[in-house]
Amino acid sequence: MPKILLGVSGGIAAYKAVEFVRLATAAGHSVRVLMTASARKFVGPDTFEGILGAPVLTSEFERDPMRGTFPGDELPEHDPIGHLAVVESADAYLIAPASANTLAKLATGQADSIVTTSFLACEAPRLVAPAMNNRMYEDAATQENLATLRARGIDVIEPDEGSLASKGEQGVGRLPDPAELLRRVESALGGEDSAAAGDLSGLKVLVTAGGTREPIDPVRYIGNRSSGRMGFALAERAAARGAEVTVIAANVSLATPTRVTRVDVQTTAELSAACFTRFPESDVLLMSAAPADFRPLVRSETKLTRATEGISLDLEPTDDILAALSANRGPGQTVIGFAAEHGGDAETRASGKLERKGLDLIVLNDVSKEGIGFDSTENAVALITADTLEEVERAAKTVIADRILDRAIKLRQDEPVP
Ligand code: CTP
Repeated sequence: MPKILLGVSGGIAAYKAVEFVRLATAAGHSVRVLMTASARKFVGPDTFEGILGAPVLTSEFERDPMRGTFPGDELPEHDPIGHLAVVESADAYLIAPASANTLAKLATGQADSIVTTSFLACEAPRLVAPAMNNRMYEDAATQENLATLRARGIDVIEPDEGSLASKGEQGVGRLPDPAELLRRVESALGGEDSAAAGDLSGLKVLVTAGGTREPIDPVRYIGNRSSGRMGFALAERAAARGAEVTVIAANVSLATPTRVTRVDVQTTAELSAACFTRFPESDVLLMSAAPADFRPLVRSETKLTRATEGISLDLEPTDDILAALSANRGPGQTVIGFAAEHGGDAETRASGKLERKGLDLIVLNDVSKEGIGFDSTENAVALITADTLEEVERAAKTVIADRILDRAIKLRQDEPVP
């Protein structure tokens, strides 16, 4: 039975940790909970203990009545040091919610509570799920701490975007659903989850993400609303499943996922050049970026002044990168495109692009639907090949990413590399 250690730090989202424990135990995992002092201001240890039937550890100085074991284990003869013994038996350690304060301590290796001491001592996969106000999350200090943790191989579960605990505030910083947290822990645990089984290991995956910008003058550009979230979710999941991943990011302000190589570009021409450099050695291309289809014929070297009578811009089409890459593909390369369509006969238009651009699969995303696509953390798509159409219901972009990757694997199995 997999053993999950859950560290809870202070934040309103601590209530979601209770649901996580309920789901994890219902799924057959053995769980122990560690809490910081401020976490106990939000939820009481009794709540967790009621669900777990095991004491919650709240101090690194107190003896653990279970002597570092998990529910169902035999108690050892001796009385080991609690915070060391409990991590020794753990198969994964998740801190959720991870407050800004706890993240700062983890990044600097501080060991001042049961949660932080055991984090330092834990050799099992470690995950943190930041949850806080958006301004705290976006502050450079928090972002630098997260970058440090990622660089050390700690899996950072990105917070969701939406309404925050403080009344009327919206933004990024929400703790993801407990079911999503559990899925991420299970993926780190291994076992039945395809992700941890490394089903993409040995494959080189190239992902493009974000939206290109075509300069009009030094300060203005033609761009689009693509945030890069879908592409980054694909990169993150492909890397977690063992692939060697490069993401070409067009104007994306998201943190680079763990174990992903990032190349930043701005314009469609730069995106095209970066793709042509890296595509030949890639096994799978996931072209989720939104390249601008037109660019100004002339880019003004100086900032255009306010024209009294308005101005006209002459635009020229950019190259269709995906069609060109696909036309140049070698044997064994899988090429997947994306189509953001706005209502109407979206499926027919997406199928047309599949054929015209010579793709193996096109991922259709109907952006006329409320709450999905563009800057949202959720999506709902249809996976279209020449002869199949599979609907993927609304879910977190990481879940959708896994479904797309599952499909990519299947396509490669159906048409074995010559
Ligand atoms: N694409 C590309 N190069 C472009 C435009 C699009 O490689 N200049 C890729 C996108 O990354 C996406 C796919 O083609 O994977 C479909 O993009 P979309 O904008 O829907 O297709 P277009 O060919 O631009 O068609 P339209 O804008 O007319 O709907």
